[in-house]
Amino acid sequence: MSNQFQEQGIVTVPYIAGDGIGPEIWQAARPVIDAALTKAYGHTKAIEWLEILAGEAAYTQTGTWLPEETISAIKTHNLALKGPLTTPIGEGFRSLNVTLRQTLDLYACVRPVRYFSGVPSPLKEPEKTDMVIFRENTEDVYAGIEFAVDDPQTKSLVALLTDQFNVHTIRFPEDTAIGIKPMSISGSQRLVKAAIDYALAHGRQTVTLVHKGNIMKFTEGGFKNWGYQLAETDYPDQCFTMAQFRRLIQSNGEIAAQEALTQAKADGKLIINDVIADNFLQQILLYPEKYDVIATCNLNGDYISDALAAQVGGIGIAPGANINYQTGAAIFEATHGTAPDIAGSGKANPCSLLLSACMLLEYLGWQEAADMITSAIESAIADQQVTADFAGLLPGATCLSTQEFGQRLIDTLSR
Ligand code: NAI
Repeated sequence: MSNQFQEQGIVTVPYIAGDGIGPEIWQAARPVIDAALTKAYGHTKAIEWLEILAGEAAYTQTGTWLPEETISAIKTHNLALKGPLTTPIGEGFRSLNVTLRQTLDLYACVRPVRYFSGVPSPLKEPEKTDMVIFRENTEDVYAGIEFAVDDPQTKSLVALLTDQFNVHTIRFPEDTAIGIKPMSISGSQRLVKAAIDYALAHGRQTVTLVHKGNIMKFTEGGFKNWGYQLAETDYPDQCFTMAQFRRLIQSNGEIAAQEALTQAKADGKLIINDVIADNFLQQILLYPEKYDVIATCNLNGDYISDALAAQVGGIGIAPGANINYQTGAAIFEATHGTAPDIAGSGKANPCSLLLSACMLLEYLGWQEAADMITSAIESAIADQQVTADFAGLLPGATCLSTQEFGQRLIDTLSR
């Protein structure tokens, strides 16, 4: 992602340390990021960290969970690094993460999933998993359009559907709740475009559209069709789609279609294909090497992100970013929660936050510093110097506290 930041020597990055284990992982991660920047660029490039509040810290200090100043600081700098936030419990509270994503229209949730050698994994060959997930972040059942079972509006809606739209498949109309699933051409195509642009910029081989269009033909089937249309219309010289392949079978036969696919691969074209979501969840266990960049709808993306993270070592190490590629606004964030069960015990793994910071550095165009942090993490794990979540699964490993793990990375960087 080359961008306006590339030439800037000092970039202000607002950060939210977060709740629970958030402050611990932040205190361990920040010096690592600063050390990598110094090592990579001397003092010609640096981050000026700007603390902003959200979650419990914000509530304690300001009486609101997500102060207006926090949102305006992110809007001003178009960037943030974020630890985990507690979702306030009680009627009427929305997830702070969802609020931030919707307020800034961060439509792409980007989750790279790769294996770090030595990390405990349930797979026999976890190194075959190397994917980048693009999850649509603003539509689908996540739009929050739901009507409760006892809401009079639900009765009106059921009556409208039954009487005016000829819907007769609501199995128990007397006591049903209703949820609505909006999915648009615009929302789907901007997400698929982000995935294709990423794949082209990073020399990836395929973009797979993951959907449940066999059942939800107009919403998820639409996602697939609109994705294919975008690739064919906007990237005719760079992409070859399996929709084209299927049309070629119909018009010119199987052999001609195979030849066109082989030629497209030989020409280095990006192959756009699709798979049904339930099949995909089998495929990623059986043949993860077949998948590369993934573009998917919101709810599928939620399940897929966590399933893939578990395949390569769990949420303690999975990074993420929420990005609007049109405005450039981006929040890089640890993907796990506040882990209240281990907060304050020094057991938290700071890798998810650190690898999210690496995505931020890449976004700034500061690849060298990102690579240094990634290598330092690889080295610590290869030497079995790990935090409690991994040490418990690796006989003979040295169990480091969150701070000690951060220090180990700094020691590696200063060599
Ligand atoms: P969680 O991710 O906080 O914890 C699940 C399990 O993973 C726990 O056993 C925890 O100890 C472990 N874990 C998580 N991060 C770890 C790390 N870095 N190192 C080692 N172990 C780690 O999920 P949970 O318990 O469902 O949620 C707790 C709170 O976090 C809730 O208030 C929830 O709403 C919030 N949450 C916030 C998220 C965010 O801010 N992005 C994401 C998920 C949950």
